[in-house]
Amino acid sequence: GASVLVTAGPTCEPLDPVRVFTNRSTGTMGYAIAEAAAARGADVVLVSGPTTLDAPDGVDVVQVETAEEMNEAVQARRDDADLVFMAAAVADYAPAETSPTKHKKEEGDLVLHLRRTPDILKTVGANRRPDQVLVGFALETNDGPENARRKLEEKNLDWIVLNNPTEEGAGFGASTNRVTLLSREGTSEELPLMSKSDVAEALLDRVLHAHPPESSA
Ligand code: CTP
Repeated sequence: GASVLVTAGPTCEPLDPVRVFTNRSTGTMGYAIAEAAAARGADVVLVSGPTTLDAPDGVDVVQVETAEEMNEAVQARRDDADLVFMAAAVADYAPAETSPTKHKKEEGDLVLHLRRTPDILKTVGANRRPDQVLVGFALETNDGPENARRKLEEKNLDWIVLNNPTEEGAGFGASTNRVTLLSREGTSEELPLMSKSDVAEALLDRVLHAHPPESSA
């Protein structure tokens, strides 16, 4: 009966009607969390960037494309959520201008200006309900624990899930993942390599153990 809000997938930032800036996220981890939470009886809203994945059973999927659209969809729903899992790989930069017509090539290099996109999770963390549980993700290729802990503090989270896409079995689109779960209280737990579905179950187990549904519903 708890309300769970999940973000998943990449965002796509248009340069013109043909080209986009995006990243290698496939949405698998976020969809696995949404599916596992729904199977445990939660009311789940999944805000998803473009993916090829099917909507998990019983999950209300809100499709978005850009970071701005994802931000609007999340901020409009954040106050209803008891648990928030932000697994999306949100583009940090988008083209400063989107051309209504296709860019044509010319001689020489092309210089593009990029602008910062809104930090969706930081806004959620800054406006959080006191009884809400916030779980963020950190994708790091180096200095993982330090970077993850800094993000946990800056974004006012309860938990952060750290992974390294360059590690064997933990990359984009893989069916497996190896994560370290860091808590606001300072604990750190390295989970073994396992399927993303099992990672989702393990995350829900840890989070629900620390914040029983009675106290978060
Ligand atoms: N996130 C978000 N909005 C953004 C960027 C990230 O909500 N504009 C969320 C992600 O869903 C994830 C967490 O914030 O839960 C990742 O933290 P962040 O500091 O943004 O990571 P990176 O974007 O990887 O930062 P950097 O590129 O500086 O490492």
